[in-house]
Amino acid sequence: MSSDYNKIADEYKYSKSLPWRKYLEAHTLYKIAGDIYGKSVLDLACGEGFYTRLYKLKGASEVVGIDLSEQMITLAMEAEKVDPLYITYFVGNALDLDLGRQFDLISASYLLNYAENESQLQTMCNIISQHLKPGGRFVTINNNPECKHPEISMRKYGFERVQKGFDDGDEVIYKLYSPDQSYVELTNYHLSGKCMKDVSRQPD
Ligand SMILES: C[S@@+](CC[C@H](N)C(=O)[O-])C[C@H]1O[C@@H](n2cnc3c(N)ncnc32)[C@H](O)[C@@H]1O
Repeated sequence: MSSDYNKIADEYKYSKSLPWRKYLEAHTLYKIAGDIYGKSVLDLACGEGFYTRLYKLKGASEVVGIDLSEQMITLAMEAEKVDPLYITYFVGNALDLDLGRQFDLISASYLLNYAENESQLQTMCNIISQHLKPGGRFVTINNNPECKHPEISMRKYGFERVQKGFDDGDEVIYKLYSPDQSYVELTNYHLSGKCMKDVSRQPD
């Protein structure tokens, strides 16, 4: 699994400032997260800390952010220096993580779409389950596995999406546009709804 976010961290950070991120994505994520006040939160695949910071600002008692990309964590820590929220950030891999503790809420915005097959998805889910307190909550934003359109242009909203196929593991390419209309690409992986249901039925 490549960590190409090291090369596109600044462009990705810009894409988080677009209106649909703020008014649709963030709104939806916080709605499903429920009441965060006083809770411990683990933000897996936290990127440059967009949601990580908001969890703290919304009253979480403690927030830990983890991402595979060193550059994304560098941006998150720079923001922490400018405006300290006392968030802890680490470089880490959601496929191989053992923090030795549990959280009230685990959030993973666009992590599961980096699993390239059912086995990796199962590993991520086991690791999430291992870090969640009994009765804790897991929230995620992910690609829609039921999307049947090979190409979607949301150019006026700042991105395009091309799906290379509909078999498990097929690439889904996103192009994220900057204001000067240059773009960067990132690659996710398609896993079917059936695959996701099979994983959710597996015992630990
Ligand atoms: C689309 S970005 C989302 C960032 C952030 N959650 C957000 O919504 O702004 C996907 C992030 O997943 C991270 N990532 C991909 N695979 C990962 C893994 N196995 N463990 C931890 N982070 C991972 C990437 O480095 C990248 O920062």
